[in-house]
Formats: sequence, structure tokens, C-alpha cells
Amino acid sequence: MEIMGKVLITDTILRDAHQSQAATRMRLDEMLPVADKLDKVGYYSLECWGGATFDSCMRFLNEDPWERLRQLRKAMPNTKLQMLFRGQNILGYKHYADDVVDAFVKKSIENGIDIIRIFDALNDMRNLEQAVKSTKKYGGICEIAISYTISPVHTEEYFVKLAKKIEQMGADSICIKDMANLLLPYDAYSLVKKLKANTKLPIHLHTHNTAGTGAMTILKAIEAGCDIVDTALSPLAEGTAQPATESLCAALKGTEYDPGLDTELMSECAVHFRKVADRLQKDGWLDPGKVLRVDANTLKYQVPGGMLSNMIGQLKQFNAMDKYYDVLAEIPRVREDFGYPPLVTPTSQIVGTQAVMNVLFGRYKTFPNESKGLLRGEYGRLPGKVNEEVRKMAIGNDKVITCRPADLLKPEMDKYREEIRDYYEQEEDVLSYALFPKVAPKFFEYRQAQKLKIDSTMLNSENKTMPV
Ligand code: CO
Repeated sequence: MEIMGKVLITDTILRDAHQSQAATRMRLDEMLPVADKLDKVGYYSLECWGGATFDSCMRFLNEDPWERLRQLRKAMPNTKLQMLFRGQNILGYKHYADDVVDAFVKKSIENGIDIIRIFDALNDMRNLEQAVKSTKKYGGICEIAISYTISPVHTEEYFVKLAKKIEQMGADSICIKDMANLLLPYDAYSLVKKLKANTKLPIHLHTHNTAGTGAMTILKAIEAGCDIVDTALSPLAEGTAQPATESLCAALKGTEYDPGLDTELMSECAVHFRKVADRLQKDGWLDPGKVLRVDANTLKYQVPGGMLSNMIGQLKQFNAMDKYYDVLAEIPRVREDFGYPPLVTPTSQIVGTQAVMNVLFGRYKTFPNESKGLLRGEYGRLPGKVNEEVRKMAIGNDKVITCRPADLLKPEMDKYREEIRDYYEQEEDVLSYALFPKVAPKFFEYRQAQKLKIDSTMLNSENKTMPV
């Protein structure tokens, strides 16, 4: 990849921006009208697929995620299209067999994805091996992301070691994925400097502005030599999403870092997306008071905003909101006992739920199945030392998995293909079903019903023109 000294920009307006601000509810027909303009802005890439968009397409929007990708590709032939991929979990919530991971990567690239950003919640690189191998096999650009977090284990040395491993694995770039907006500006400066000094790979920064520090973090990272940064067009930027693209471009204008984007085209796109943001707000998907207000709790407790709202929900269920601060105090304890997992889906929910249980029912009196799975090694290797006493309370004398978890899984594609035989229209359907076995069949049924409707209207109109 050619890096020119100027900063490259990935715009997240089509994926993380509306995922973080508006429950992933932007529709394809709200993207296409400005796709041609987005394609000419001069972005390094457009993040537009993966993450929660796949699930949301089928579950809420009655869209085929694969068809969305094909249409975006057709409408934006010149800009690299980027997706987010959760390692062995693909875009779902469990570990899939290697043949499913391979088929998913193959179809993603075939249908139009250029860059696959792959990460694992625990930074267990074994959970990325298959996805990385497949991305390279099918000619994709492979970006491996470090799940950034703060703990006694997660030192700069730890991240440098990880980055060297990422380079050895054959990645084309490294992403610092700061999903919870924990990376502060001067720490970003120092970390990027260290990574640049220790690897040859381009560094790509992904952060949010939940705690109000996002744009400062991006600027310091750029000063340290960060090559690519994630921002979002202003109508859906800031707050729980990424800092605004236009603001960063204005700040860098005329400097050696100037991304050189077409600001006129960006402002035309922004006019369109402002209307989309208004629609999302009107339909109740976007609450500016919630998603745009600076959340300083994130800084204080080092817990992602989404995890806090989850916990509040659980406490309300038990009529125990008075225990809120006890739970916040319990989280660091659980996290330490569990070996300091980064707090990102799914580990954020696991640690949060365990902390709630500990406070409500007594410390480690109850373990949800997910806690047991995490301590049994089903999600991969935990970064730090696990408290063995706690582990024994959770799983007794069960064997702890130390191999790559996916090595225990047999090929699954044939089974899935057989199970959806009645709905099969394209090979991609098998993958939609593999990832979301409850949601996909409902969508397939909707799709069939739509087809019948179209067929019958066509028949009717033919009938009308037929000579009687
Ligand atoms: Co994000």
C-alpha cells in the first residue's frame, strides 16, 4: 500500500456511525442517492458492511445484506469498500467452523468487499488465523485490529508484541480498535510512535467520541505518524460514533497531513445524510440527548457506554438501581479474576452480568453459562492470569480448553446447506442462515412472498393486455 505522508481517511457513515448512533437502522435506499458522490470524495475506504449491519438488514429492514453489498459495489466502483469481521465469530456470536469462516470471506470479497478488518475480543490471534488466511487466499486486503483496553496486562509492550505478531501473520495494516473511547490523546501519541517504530505496517486508528476525547486522540495519533483514521460525515458523527470527517479535514487543511478530500462533495453528501439523520430521529432510532452528550463515566469507570446501559437495564429488572455503584465497583474485581479481558462484545456483557450477579446474590454464588464458557477457554486464551479459585467455583474440574477453540469444530457448511434447502436461492443464503438461524428463515419467507406478489402483478398486467 502506498502511503504519501498525507493522512488517509476511512469514512464510517455507512456502518459504524449509524450503528453507534441509530441502532444500525440506515437503509440501502438512504445510501444509494449519494453513493456516486461518496465514491468521488477521495476516501481511502468506506466502511459499509459487517459489524451489526448484516443482522440488522435481515432482522429489521427486510433487506438481503448480500444484495446491499452488491448494490453498494456497483454504485461505488472506485473507492475501497471495508467491512468489520469478528474473527472466528464472523458476524455472529459463537465460534464457527473454519469452512464457514472461509466461505464467508470468499463471498464477501466476491460480492465487493476490498478490506476486511478482523478482530477478536480477547486478542487471541488464533481466533483470527482462518479469517486472515482466507482473506489473503481470495485477494482481499487484510487489516488486523487490536482490541484496545486498559489493564495491568495491557501495557505498550503488550501491544507492541501483538503488533509484531500481526505483522508475522501477514496483515496489510494494523488497526488500533478503541471501541470504548478509552485511548487518551497522549497515550495514543505514545502508542502509535511505538507501533511505527516496531513494525513496517500502516497504522489505522478507530475510536469513538463517547467521552469527548476522540478528535484530540485522532489528532495526536496523526502527529505520531498514524497513517489512516476513521471518521464519519458530520450528520451522524461525534458522541457514541466517530469524530466528524469535515472537522478533521478543516483542522488539517494546508498541513503536511491534509487528506486532500473534496470538501464540496462532502458537504453535498452531508445535506443528504442530515435528512437521513432526521428520519432516524423521527422514527425513534436516534436520541440526540443520549448519543451526543459527553459521557464522562466512560473515563471514570473505563467501561464502554453500551455496557453501562445494559447493566442499568438488568438492575432495573431486579428493582435494585440502588446497587448501581456497587456493581461499578465490582466490575474491576470480576475483570481481574477473569484475566483482564478487553470489554467488547461479547466479553463486556459477560463481565457486566457477572458483576451484577455478584452484587445481587453474593460474590460468585451464581455463574451464567457465558461466564463458565469464558473461564473454560471456549472464547480463547484470556490475556492475564485467571483466579483459579474462582475458575474452580465456576466449572469445577472441567478441562480448560487450551487449543485453538475452532480446532474442536467439524465442518458445518453441508449441514447448514441441507437445513435451508427449501429457501436456497444463492450460496450466500447458507451463510446468512449459519449466522442467524432464527432470523434468516423469516427473511427468506418474506423474500419469497415478495416474489410471489411481483409475479402475480406481472401476470395480471399481462392478462390485461392479452386479447380477449
Ligand atoms: Co466502533
